[in-house]
Amino acid sequence: MLESLRSVVSLKPIERDRTVRRLSSAANVDDLRAIAKRRLPAGVFDYIDGAAEDESAMSRNASRFGDRTLVPRVLKDVSEIDASTTILGGRAPMPLIIAPTGFPRIAHPDGELATARAAARAGIPFSLSTMGTRSIEEVAGVCDGRKWFQVYVWRDRELTKDMLARCKESGFEALYITVDTAVLGRRERDVRRGMSLPPKLGLDTFIEGAMRPGWVLEFLRNDPIVFSNVAVSTQRLSNSTEDGSSAVSLAEYINSQFDPRLSWDDVAWIRSNWDGPVILKGIQSVADAKIAADEGIEAIALSNHGGRQLDSSPAIIDLVAPVADAVGGDIEIYCDGGVRRGSDVVKAVALGANACMIGRPHLYALAAGGEAGVDHVLNFFQQGIEQTMALTGIASMSDADQSIVSE
Ligand code: FNR
Ligand code: LAC
Repeated sequence: MLESLRSVVSLKPIERDRTVRRLSSAANVDDLRAIAKRRLPAGVFDYIDGAAEDESAMSRNASRFGDRTLVPRVLKDVSEIDASTTILGGRAPMPLIIAPTGFPRIAHPDGELATARAAARAGIPFSLSTMGTRSIEEVAGVCDGRKWFQVYVWRDRELTKDMLARCKESGFEALYITVDTAVLGRRERDVRRGMSLPPKLGLDTFIEGAMRPGWVLEFLRNDPIVFSNVAVSTQRLSNSTEDGSSAVSLAEYINSQFDPRLSWDDVAWIRSNWDGPVILKGIQSVADAKIAADEGIEAIALSNHGGRQLDSSPAIIDLVAPVADAVGGDIEIYCDGGVRRGSDVVKAVALGANACMIGRPHLYALAAGGEAGVDHVLNFFQQGIEQTMALTGIASMSDADQSIVSE
């Protein structure tokens, strides 16, 4: 009986490594999100997963990708697929970039170091946030791949200037200026919880912790989560900006530290302190894309911050073709917000983007499986892009143009 059963059923050997086992059950980004939700304290998950107000911009980002279909062409010899492309003058095996995100170590203690290593292995640029939890120097110490830094402009300009000098010393290649955060968006999940960063281990997180002991143990066992980039610069400048050693409300902190007077003059000021390429992140109109191109900026990232800022902002994929028609060729165009599959990347590139960026997908992956989780999600994108190209009938990324997307 058993013999005859064996002849028809081949049993999979049980995987002993728990992380590998967990990740192998994640077939897509939604699955990684579900694992992250199980493993993270609710407040931490909500900070990462949530968005502003009714979260309609976040939903629209995703649904508008879904509304578009591809126009498959057949009998096109897709035996050799080449998804590689050029991003800011460097080759990458696929048009994907890790977006800058604050506080990755709340998802997993290895945080940025894990993601930067995984991005280097995948051959794509990694972006470190001003609000990062590992410093410019620590990231440079573990990552010989492409590293980009994202600045918020602080009221204290010396702080910004010092970070730029440190980026240069550490071999960072490009600089984003995030321009959609004059004030912080109203993230109502965080408002309800009174969320602070780094997370406070108060009574509620203690109760949560009883349900998620793995996260709490790691949190307590590892060095404290601080705003590492701010901490190094405040030490170098002997200034007293709060560096996250004590928990702060993110909205209060950002609204008191970031400069809402930020204007095109400040972009010029940053350029005078940085001789590498500049990317303006958070452009959401053709009009601003044109100004950026006229100002000689190297790249723009079309982004509504994953729906975390203005809730009534346009879906990102809706901006790509109009912006590409207006300034494509004069300036590189990246886009993020709701990119969850290889097919989303192919659609964005076909409509005129040079590359897409991913925020939450890599944070869910970190929470689900640390560095192996980020490898997993990057492989998922590489395979998904190649499979979509094969099924759409384009062998090379340079063949992806507006004719292959319909609404
Ligand atoms: C962000 N984002 C962001 N952007 C930025 O310029 N500086 C930052 O510090 C952060 N921090 C941050 C934290 C978290 C938890 C998230 C989810 C996002 C926005 C990010 O770079 C990117 O624009 C969006 O995440 C893209 O949307 P998706 O991919 O998350 O849908
Ligand atoms: C956020 C900030 C850190 O989106 O940019 O939470």
